[in-house]
Amino acid sequence: MAVHSPQIYLDHAATTPMVQPAIDALTAQILKTGNASSLHSTGRSVRKELEEARESIAKAAGCAAIDVIFTGTGTEANNLAIKGLFWLAAKAGKKVIITSTFEHHAVMDPIKWLQDHEGATVIEIPVSKTGSLDLTTLQKVVDQHRAQIAFISIMHSNNEIGTLQPIEQVVKIAGDIPVHTDAVQSFGKVDFNFNQLGLTAATISAHKVGGPLGVAALILKKGVNIEPVLHGGGQERDIRSGTFNAPGIIAFAAAASNAIAQMNDRDTKIRKLKSLLITKVLAAVPDAWVNGQSENSLPGVVNITFPGTDSEGLLLLLDMEGIACSTGSACSAGVHRPSHVLLAIGLSEDETTSSLRFSLGDSNTEAEIEKLALVIASVVEKSRSAANKKVFK
Ligand SMILES: Cc1ncc(COP(=O)(O)O)c(C=O)c1O
Repeated sequence: MAVHSPQIYLDHAATTPMVQPAIDALTAQILKTGNASSLHSTGRSVRKELEEARESIAKAAGCAAIDVIFTGTGTEANNLAIKGLFWLAAKAGKKVIITSTFEHHAVMDPIKWLQDHEGATVIEIPVSKTGSLDLTTLQKVVDQHRAQIAFISIMHSNNEIGTLQPIEQVVKIAGDIPVHTDAVQSFGKVDFNFNQLGLTAATISAHKVGGPLGVAALILKKGVNIEPVLHGGGQERDIRSGTFNAPGIIAFAAAASNAIAQMNDRDTKIRKLKSLLITKVLAAVPDAWVNGQSENSLPGVVNITFPGTDSEGLLLLLDMEGIACSTGSACSAGVHRPSHVLLAIGLSEDETTSSLRFSLGDSNTEAEIEKLALVIASVVEKSRSAANKKVFK
């Protein structure tokens, strides 16, 4: 049997390996029986642990335990927030949704769905070349449409280029308009405090912070009683029905507490690796450039354009060298579409399909970055000549 050496994993924004406290919590819990909604002592014992997990996640996110609504994925939590807030506001005749041009598809697509099926008017606020929301335009749009706005949804940090967004100012401009933020990439990696920011809703997801797949949460201010998307047993304030994924939730809490406890140390270590990666890769490929700004950004995410290449080809060539990264752009049904995020910050279509996202995590080392630096020039060269061949055929 072939033994594969482990890959150099530079794709932590896609998903992170589970951390040991989460593995321990998950394996211990999965062996137990009991539905956390059952009244007998077996059920009550699971419920107790689940409520402790809710408390831990609330503490990590800066909200009250009652605000935490567990879901299956971040995508589900975004859909729930967006559709729920819209349906609530639409009852009062408010049907305008304000968002940005570079949200994750899990925000963009439910908003588009509301536009196509429920009569929502969508206004997308542009972002700057460095990947930051244009607050002047936001202010103008809010002033102009205030009475009709259902909610504002702006991501806390961008998943492709890593830039942090000015959510505090967004909330100030919003005043009493509800604000939702997709904090899937930020939670556990940079400061995030739901109450301090004054948010109405936020999305977080376990598998981006060393927790298991299949568990996430919508943080929704108590008293904001949105319409559910799923109807059933009435769990989670009647907003998200379905039997609790107790092992997943308890492991999520373990991962979240671990992430918060280690955030500062990890931040220093990963930012140092990121800056090494940028220096080495740009030295090896002098006409490459970094997209977005690297200061006000997530510690581990860096997006680089290698002009004249094809990002899928680059990704596969790096994969053959034992290095995993991401094109950052949406691939559906085998079609390589230009990234809407890179288009939003002003790249041409050609440039968006010549870009790679590297995302660093806890396990990465300087030696791994050195290995990337060693192979990147030849990989880029190969991709360039392949791309040229296509052009001259
Ligand atoms: C910014 C952002 N939002 C939402 C999601 C979706 O989260 P999940 O994978 O838990 O559905 C992702 C996942 O890549 C993301 O990066």
